[in-house]
Amino acid sequence: MQKINHNNLPQHVAITMDGNGRWAKEKGMLRNFGHRNGVSAVKESVEIAAEIGIKYLTLYAFSTENWNRPKKEISALMNLLVSAIKKEVSTLMNNNIRLTTIGDLTELPHIAQKNLNEAKERTKNNTGMNLILALSYSGRWEILNAIKKIIKNKINIEELNDLLFQQYLETKNVPDPELLIRTSGEKRISNFLLWQIAYSELYFTDKLWPDFTKNDFKKAIIDYQRRERRFGLTTNQI
Ligand code: FPP
Repeated sequence: MQKINHNNLPQHVAITMDGNGRWAKEKGMLRNFGHRNGVSAVKESVEIAAEIGIKYLTLYAFSTENWNRPKKEISALMNLLVSAIKKEVSTLMNNNIRLTTIGDLTELPHIAQKNLNEAKERTKNNTGMNLILALSYSGRWEILNAIKKIIKNKINIEELNDLLFQQYLETKNVPDPELLIRTSGEKRISNFLLWQIAYSELYFTDKLWPDFTKNDFKKAIIDYQRRERRFGLTTNQI
């Protein structure tokens, strides 16, 4: 495999972790078995991203739309989240990783909120990678929320521009992702970081999330590094 060029790393990588259900079904197992194995893939990606030197890693762990799933699946996902946070907070500390979240945490069960807030508090002074979990998150919710706050703050229309708008998003002070990865062969955005991915490179892989390895993560970075990012300019202008 080609080597990663450390002078051309994306600062921010976002991942839509898709395919847990199908992975379990392929094995004749229940969907939750897929989610459980999805947690191991989360660990792998967090480890390799930190190792490579990615500054921000955002994982789409639970969308606003996921609340429409069967109650049993939702509660299994929430339990997994709580146990993973409890178990891994020391790993985050050992690796100098700071945990934050985007999304409407108030919708989450109390115990999940409590554990997340504790983990965020404990890791808040870490200076290595920023791990951002998107939970009860959707891009449209975030944009609407930003607009509501802007109206409430009586922001002058003349003052409003890209930079100011960004300050009202959940990802305030986080650079836009240069690379968005989606697993499982689906080629959709599914309401993820709608504002922030305006110029992101999109990378789709057929691998189902529980099968997504450190090597697959590296492959995505190498693929990104082969691309020419023009931001609306011509090749000669870059
Ligand atoms: C998508 O697969 C996956 C999810 C909706 C949840 C992702 C959650 C985890 C990997 C576990 C908990 C997370 C953390 C951060 C510890 P799917 O269910 O949509 O699969 P399908 O499309 O094959 O049905």
